[in-house]
Amino acid sequence: MSLSDAAIPDEPSPYELLSWYAEMGVTEALDETPHNHFAEPAPRAAEGQRPALRPLPGRESVAVRPMAAAATAPDDAALTARAMAREARTLDELKEALAKFEGCALKATAKHLVFADGNPKGRIMMVGEAPGADEDRIGLPFVGRSGQLLDRMLAAIGLSRKEDVYIANLLPWRPPGNRTPTPQEVAICLPFIQRQIELADPDILICVGGPSAQGLLGFTGILRSRGQWVEYDTGSRRIPAMATLHPAYLLRQPLQKRLAWRDLRALKAALDDKK
Ligand code: URA
Repeated sequence: MSLSDAAIPDEPSPYELLSWYAEMGVTEALDETPHNHFAEPAPRAAEGQRPALRPLPGRESVAVRPMAAAATAPDDAALTARAMAREARTLDELKEALAKFEGCALKATAKHLVFADGNPKGRIMMVGEAPGADEDRIGLPFVGRSGQLLDRMLAAIGLSRKEDVYIANLLPWRPPGNRTPTPQEVAICLPFIQRQIELADPDILICVGGPSAQGLLGFTGILRSRGQWVEYDTGSRRIPAMATLHPAYLLRQPLQKRLAWRDLRALKAALDDKK
């Protein structure tokens, strides 16, 4: 073996390469070529003129993937969302409307629409942030480790998801790599979750985690705002609402479970009061 051979490391196997990507947080394969999402949009081709597609070096043709979801301007998307959500008269119609909605780019990378779980007639509605990998794979909210903790927390005050709680998320599609949803994505999807709350018409709304508390109740700083009762206007009536800590946060910071326990006891007392 020559000295120069020894200096060249072995080619990584595909498995090693994928493991390395996963460790670096690259968990989604979106396209074959990188995209600069911060770049200025290219000037539009004149009417009737199609832009020339340049093949990648060494390839004969370019695969063009439809990206309809990303093409809608955010303001138009929010207006369309509001109109579609308002038209839905039942939760089933709302789910159908969401399935047809093309205004949120997250839909293009998600495997499933994650609409809701639990009992739509339950007295409590809980709204989390957005589906994670397990939820995206299965198509139901809070089925992973966080969801299992949420179920145990509910059981500790005698409640079950099957009977007492209707569960949804601020966003029905998983943000790639579980990143925090952008304000734009939240604004676009907000009319749908607001309408979902109005149609489910629970007695009590619980926002699970900071983004949900901010999106629906206007709270900033979950540690400061959790546990406070406020009134939420569903559009048809006012109901008590509270924010609590997200179970994913509690899995990382188990000592904070004592705060979540306070919120659960307050929820239980409110339910008993309203009986
Ligand atoms: N975290 C959420 O906020 N929602 C889910 O559905 C799962 C994890």
